[in-house]
Amino acid sequence: MNNFKPNIVILRCNFCSPPGAERAMASQLKDNFRPIIIRANCTGRIDPTFVIDAFVKGADGVMIAGCAPGDCHYVSGNYKAGRNILLLKRVLSQLGIQPERLRAEWLSTSESPRFVSSLNDLADKVVTLGPLILN
Ligand code: FES
Repeated sequence: MNNFKPNIVILRCNFCSPPGAERAMASQLKDNFRPIIIRANCTGRIDPTFVIDAFVKGADGVMIAGCAPGDCHYVSGNYKAGRNILLLKRVLSQLGIQPERLRAEWLSTSESPRFVSSLNDLADKVVTLGPLILN
């Protein structure tokens, strides 16, 4: 039996979920991981080093959630974040961290079910990958 319960850091923008949505979502999340939610004003403000730092400090997986294309409150922050994530996946690979441990979702406020599903899916993937061991 696998007792591994990964830490999943969720970096999400303030605008892609309505107030109280996290509490509602909590009951739909699987209990095979520990979610750690950190809010940002916009995914465009998430410095790529935050993600690397999360992995270095004990995250086994990271989810970045932001506004759907065209809906960013800062116009293009989510596009910037999308570019950063593409580069980050390459950097993670170079650091020996499986890029599948990082996932991004772009959501409207009505898409909490998709967010929950994607987060549960990421948790399952990370459980399969096992704990992140950095050398
Ligand atoms: S305000 Fe949500 S991604 Fe920019």
